[in-house]
Order: sequence, then C-alpha cells, then structure tokens
Amino acid sequence: MNGELGTGEIEQRLAELERAGLMRRLRLVSGPQGPTVLLDGQPVLLLCSNNYLGLADHPHVCEAAAEAAMRWGVGAGASRLISGTMTVHRRLEERLAAFAGRQSCLLFGSGYLANLGVIGALAGRGDTVFSDELNHASIVDGCRLSRAEVVVYRHADVEHLLWSMRRHSGRGNAQGGRLVVTDSVFSMDGDVAPLTEIVELAHASGARLVVDEAHAIGTYGPGGRGALAQEGLEGEVDAIVGTLGKALGSYGAFVCGDEEMVRYLLNTSRSFIFSTAPPPPAMAGALAALGLLQERPHRVQRLSANARTLRRSLASEGFAVAEGDMHIVPLVVGDERDTMRLCQEAIERGVFAQAIRPPTVPAGTSRLRLAAMASHTATDMRMAAETLAKAARKLGLDPAQLGTPLPEPEPVQEPVEGIEREPHETLPVAQSPPSAPFDIEQPRPRRPLAPAEAGSSEANAPFDGERESAVARAA
Ligand SMILES: Cc1ncc(COP(=O)(O)O)c(C=O)c1O
Repeated sequence: MNGELGTGEIEQRLAELERAGLMRRLRLVSGPQGPTVLLDGQPVLLLCSNNYLGLADHPHVCEAAAEAAMRWGVGAGASRLISGTMTVHRRLEERLAAFAGRQSCLLFGSGYLANLGVIGALAGRGDTVFSDELNHASIVDGCRLSRAEVVVYRHADVEHLLWSMRRHSGRGNAQGGRLVVTDSVFSMDGDVAPLTEIVELAHASGARLVVDEAHAIGTYGPGGRGALAQEGLEGEVDAIVGTLGKALGSYGAFVCGDEEMVRYLLNTSRSFIFSTAPPPPAMAGALAALGLLQERPHRVQRLSANARTLRRSLASEGFAVAEGDMHIVPLVVGDERDTMRLCQEAIERGVFAQAIRPPTVPAGTSRLRLAAMASHTATDMRMAAETLAKAARKLGLDPAQLGTPLPEPEPVQEPVEGIEREPHETLPVAQSPPSAPFDIEQPRPRRPLAPAEAGSSEANAPFDGERESAVARAA
C-alpha cells in the first residue's frame, strides 16, 4: 500500500488480508518454550520454536538472568554510548568474540537491529548491495534503509551473483563500494549458503561481506560455532551477525569482526547508537547459555540427531523431505489457505508448527516451518511426522507433494567464466537502467529466455538483466 492510510483504508486492508488468507493473529503459549507447551490452553508438541538447544528455560540460564536482575537491575537505563555499557555487556562481548574467532564484538538490541545497523554502516547512496533473494527481512530492510542500490541475486546462486556484480559495478561511479550480504543458514528453508564461493567472489571483486549466522550459531559447525566456522571462514568476512534470541535462548544480538570494524560500527551504526543497551538479565542469560554450549556441546549433537530423525520420519510418512541433519525443515504447501488449514489440523492433533506465509516467504511457497530442538525426544519427532501426515491426508493433501521443492533448473546459455580465472579483474561499468531496490517479497517469475530475447544483445548473458531490472522497478 502506498501513501497515507485514509479513512476506512485500514479496514479495507484488513479485509483484503483476510480474503487472501494472509491475516495473522497471535497464538498464546503458556509456560516456557519447552518441547511441549499449552497453546491457547491446549497441550501440543512445540515444533516451531527457535529455542533450538532448549537453553531459554535451562535452570542455569534462568538463575543467571535472575541474579543479574538483582545485581544490575532489569534495564540498562541508557544507550551504550551514554551510560548503558555495563560490565555484563563487556564480558559477553569478549566471550562472543573469542567464540566467533574474531578480535572484537559489539552487542545490539536484536538481530533485526544488528542487520539494519551493519548494512546501513557499510553501504550508502552510490554503493551497491548484493543480497540473496531469500535473505531474512531484517537484511531486506537494512538494504532498503541504506539507500544503496540493491541487487538481488538468485538464491544461493554464485553464478548469478558473479553476473550481477559484473553488471552493477559501481553504476558509473567508480568510487561506489560493494557489499555482499547473505544468511548462512536460511531461516525459512534451512539450507546453507555457498559460503566458500561467496567469500572467494567477494575477495576477488573487492566487495565487503556480511554473513548472518542467526540460525547457525549454536546449531551448526564445530561446537555450534556456525557455518563460517564449518568452512574455516570465520576470519574471511567483514562482519558476522549472530542473534542471542535463538539457540542462545535469550534476546539481543551481536556483530563480530576485527577491532577496526567494530570501532567503526560503534561510531556509525544508527541502530546501535540510538537505542537503549540490551537489558542485563538478557545478557547474563546469554553468557550462561554460551558457557553451557561451550562446556557441553553435546546439545548440538542432540539437535542434529533429532533433526535427522524428524527428516527420516517425515520421509517415511511420504513427505518430500531429504535426509540430513539440518534442524529447520520446511514443508512447503504452496497455497496460503491450505497451509493454514494444515497448521490448524495439526494443532488439533497435538502438534504446533506455525504456518509461514507471504511476505515472510515468497507467494506460492507458504509452508509449515518445522524446527527441531535438542530438548525433543526421538519419539516426539516420529509422533510429529505421523501426526502431520494424518493431518495432511485428512485435508486431502498428498504428503508427497509437501516438502522441500527441488530448485528449478536455471537457463544458463553460456558457462560463466570461473571466479578463479579472473581473481582481480576490474568489473566493467554496467550499462543497465537504474533499478529500484528489489522487493524480495514479490518473487520474480522464472522462465527460460524466449528466442527473441535470446537473440538480443544480452544473448550471452546467463541471466535476463533487463527483465530483472524491469521487475525491480515495478516492485
Ligand atoms: C536470518 C535472521 N537474521 C536476523 C533475524 C532477527 O533476529 P532477532 O530475532 O534477534 O531480531 C532473524 C530472525 O528470525 C533471522 O532469521
């Protein structure tokens, strides 16, 4: 909706959302984020919480938070740069920097604020940000707020990223900086970005790189240190974003990098500067959770084992789910209303997996996003799969049609020159028309090039830049 909301327009907009099957409402959970909860008064297995390691209500974490409240108070009272930097912030930053294998760390109020702050600090007018099409909304909003030109590349598609970087090489402004930003583990799909190739490409083209490890910290890589650590790339990116609100069971977020980068963010990130410091109990809770993660990494293994059991059980119930140990498992239904019906039917049968609809995911890919937790049992996982299968069949939905869709084949006419072959080339100035920040919430149609297009001057380009620019302008 553009412009101001006039009389009756809110009502009309709400009615539109209702008609489109996109109305949201809050469901009430009683008690902590355990493996089972009371949902609107009904007992259910919780299968959509990001409390991946079960630390949000771990007794040591709760005690640490309670003690911190008694010692330092509930609120920090001011922003970090005024009087809000307390010993607990400093201690947590030091511990997180060591955990991430970086020199320095800066806490933010949340992962959302961290992405707004980091992207806004590293890109501005005249710069270009290259962003994966399935990046989290906080990255999308960070890109929009930065006022940089935003180029969205196809999901996890390094060839498209390379091609996009060649086309948008400063847009006539040789001074324009470039920033690549990606989730490491994608929040709604649970797949992992091709980080090695992205790092290589960013280095080769002189672009900065920000990686958001929100769903990887505590869940993935050696000792739960994330997807960058898994590939030995912790030191290869400009900024690592992580949140305290998921596996670390608390609230808040952090950015790790070298000392100079952190000093820069501290001086320029608006969402850091102009917001109250995170509350001491949340910081102390995160510190305790981090301690538990480091002392007893078996929780990460238990999470992976549960994820494997969940995936295997879903597959044996006929769902189109691949084996693996990634804890986020999308059951893509497609239609918004069918997704809501499946969600409701599963709740009535005792399993809560929230329906995820646009704009959180692209239109036509509504889904139940299942999230395993270390606190589940293997029996929970099997029961969940069985329940979801029964719920789907009851609604006339075929489990074989629900799951993780296979990626569509992309029309590539010519092999893209290898990154390794031209590691330091100067990318040509793009001739493309200006493109507005792409709205990833409006997915682009994907289709092979028509013969007429194939014969155009873009014939050798593996991707249709004109069409993308046009879609981007329209969005
Ligand atoms: C990839 C990613 N980044 C950032 C965030 C935001 O983190 P927070 O919940 O701490 O604001 C999320 C939240 O879901 C996320 O999935």
